[in-house]
Amino acid sequence: MNFVNSTTDAIQLDRVVFFGRTLSEYVKFFDLDLSQWQKCRILDCPAGAASFVAEVHQMGIDAVACDLLFNLDETNLRAKGQADLAHVMERLADVTHNYNWDFYQNIEKLNECRHTALENFLADYPNGRQVGRYIQTVLPKLPFSDRSFDLVLSGHFLFLYSDCFDYAFHWQTILELYRVCSQEVRIYPLQGKDAQPYAFLNNLINDLNNAEIAAEIVDVPWEFLKGSNQMLRLWR
Ligand SMILES: C[S@@+](CC[C@H](N)C(=O)[O-])C[C@H]1O[C@@H](n2cnc3c(N)ncnc32)[C@H](O)[C@@H]1O
Repeated sequence: MNFVNSTTDAIQLDRVVFFGRTLSEYVKFFDLDLSQWQKCRILDCPAGAASFVAEVHQMGIDAVACDLLFNLDETNLRAKGQADLAHVMERLADVTHNYNWDFYQNIEKLNECRHTALENFLADYPNGRQVGRYIQTVLPKLPFSDRSFDLVLSGHFLFLYSDCFDYAFHWQTILELYRVCSQEVRIYPLQGKDAQPYAFLNNLINDLNNAEIAAEIVDVPWEFLKGSNQMLRLWR
């Protein structure tokens, strides 16, 4: 794999952003075959402004999204989502050479894609929140019983923000994602914002194996940030 060389080339985000992707992007970076999960219950955690749950719900799949900010209403989330999107696009403009543009083509189209995700998420959020499809959670704890989801997806949070969260937080969060899953947990990407692989990945896999949790690194058909073409998969 070719990783970005210089840590000074990293995207300089000053916070964990309320940001989200679409179903078609989730399918690629989690290497998802949704026909396998049609009758299953899926958790997206943390979901941010992703439209994944809104979109799979329309396909008849039972899915729940959770995030620290799901105590906020639609108006506040739109404001936060738009501000964070502007922040990411501004910072991304400095480091576009670190990314592959074959999917998005350019930064303007990427921005449109992220706005689409935000608006599709917001369209589902008010009603979805009332029926329990969007739930506020504060990791590393989850308010769900053991094995209550077949598949648990965690994108663009763990490892990515490893400058903000220590190993203990990662460990506790991953154990919690595993606790609430009955089949599989998938975590993407394995890089930090500095585009380097998570420094403690080998320790983590050893610790998981010592806890008798099956874990492996798997290639995925997606590489927007150069070198980010693998996920961590845990299974029962
Ligand atoms: C980049 S977004 C997730 C994006 C989405 N999963 C995707 O792949 O498109 C990261 C999210 O983590 C949430 N977050 C930060 N700290 C958290 C915590 N302790 N518990 C739950 N969510 C948290 C933020 O509110 C933010 O929405």
